[in-house]
Amino acid sequence: MTDYIIAIDQGTTSTRAIVFDHAGSIVSQGQLEHKQIFPKAGWVEHDPKEIWDNTREVIGQALSRANITRHNVRAVGITNQRETTVVWDKNTGEPVYNAIVWQDTRTQDIVDRLAADGGVERFKDIVGLPLSTYFAGTKIVWILENVEGAREKAEAGELLFGTTDSWVTWNLTGGVDGGVHITDVTNASRTLFMDLTTLTWRDDILEVFGVPKSMLPEIKSSSEVYGTVHTSSLLREVPVAGILGDQQAATFGQAAFDAGESKNTYGTGNFLIFNTGTEIVHSKNGLLTTLGYRLGDDVPHYALEGSIAVTGSLVQWLRDNLGLIASAPEIEELAASVDDNGGAYFVPAFSGLFAPYWRSDARGALVGLTRFVNKGHIAPAALEATAFQTKEVLDAVDADSGVPLTELKVDGGMIANNLLMQFQADILGVPVVRPVVAETTALGAAYAAGLAVGFWANLDELRANWQEDSRWEPKMDEAERARLYRNWKKAVTKTFDWVD
Ligand code: G3P
Repeated sequence: MTDYIIAIDQGTTSTRAIVFDHAGSIVSQGQLEHKQIFPKAGWVEHDPKEIWDNTREVIGQALSRANITRHNVRAVGITNQRETTVVWDKNTGEPVYNAIVWQDTRTQDIVDRLAADGGVERFKDIVGLPLSTYFAGTKIVWILENVEGAREKAEAGELLFGTTDSWVTWNLTGGVDGGVHITDVTNASRTLFMDLTTLTWRDDILEVFGVPKSMLPEIKSSSEVYGTVHTSSLLREVPVAGILGDQQAATFGQAAFDAGESKNTYGTGNFLIFNTGTEIVHSKNGLLTTLGYRLGDDVPHYALEGSIAVTGSLVQWLRDNLGLIASAPEIEELAASVDDNGGAYFVPAFSGLFAPYWRSDARGALVGLTRFVNKGHIAPAALEATAFQTKEVLDAVDADSGVPLTELKVDGGMIANNLLMQFQADILGVPVVRPVVAETTALGAAYAAGLAVGFWANLDELRANWQEDSRWEPKMDEAERARLYRNWKKAVTKTFDWVD
């Protein structure tokens, strides 16, 4: 009987379950989108119950499409949208509020309050992150301060916090009936509460935030058997054996295991991760320091990260809010209908600007407009925004590491867009490389789980699975590259100071 690993990818827009074989190839998958809830400008929520229901359903889809049962599945790996915050009642399993999504900026006042004493970088040396609305910590504070009865219950030890990896794992392993309340080091490193060196929660920081420690999950490695799936599930008794935040999972799935290796994922946002090995490197150029992965009791691997809030979601916005295109892939056709951006630059600072600026006062801007510009030009301007933002992050990586990147490994939904990939290579001046299995996020979680149960023996075996699919070489001349990038930088400055 052939064995498989199943990965659950609980992402920002959808939840997927993917069955992988030993070669790391996709056997089957299930996928369901969940509602994006926008109660006010700057607020983004998900319904945690919908996410859990979808998780159960996509597991069923993936198993039946592969025509297998739990008996063929050696382990479950979990990967997730990071930072998105769920707080639930441990006695009833009911969330006390919707999940507050990583893109949500409602906690700006909390950030300002905390930064009043010591600035936004006051905990950066310990946790690797600036104070920002992006991370889970201030989202928990918001729930405690704004949901009736939440603080009292939290202090009585009745509430649990988790990013969606914890939420899915707790439910999958039994929920109120003995579910394990855990997270892995990569997700824990996105809360503002974990000490990068000791990999434990910091009591002093929790105290400053006013968050009771009893709410927090136990921090585990990224690859070990955490528990088994509850008897109520189709996967009953299968070990849950790997957890990685989605960007770290993609890095793992790209087999970027060693210092100096990296990847860039083009999803709702873009996330470039640069592995710094066992060394904790503090950025001087606006990057985050984060956990890369930890396998069981092995030494942890660290990374520098360039997070960009809005890339693919700009295309969705053009589709859903402006009706400029009917489906996301149409953006390529629309972009091909014009020669260039016509002088237009689109800076999608919808959640402020993340790396390398960390300006929550920024808001989106479309600049350089003349009577000449038509709707066609908006398409390249939107795609180019992704490439320009990636260049900014890559420049920061080069400056921090002192080693210029010689090629960029990419993955994620937008890499299907040839126009974008060519422009990316052009604007970076280095080749862009896509692997055969582009579902690197789920693959990384499968790898972590498979390693823990001996399905794969070691990292070399995984490295051997990585294969190049396509490569885009830079073709643009240097003067043109410099001109476009100069204009982009000018456009970025127009987005500052928009919040009163
Ligand atoms: O930090 C947010 C990131 O983990 C979300 O990734 O792919 O769900 O947009 P994605």
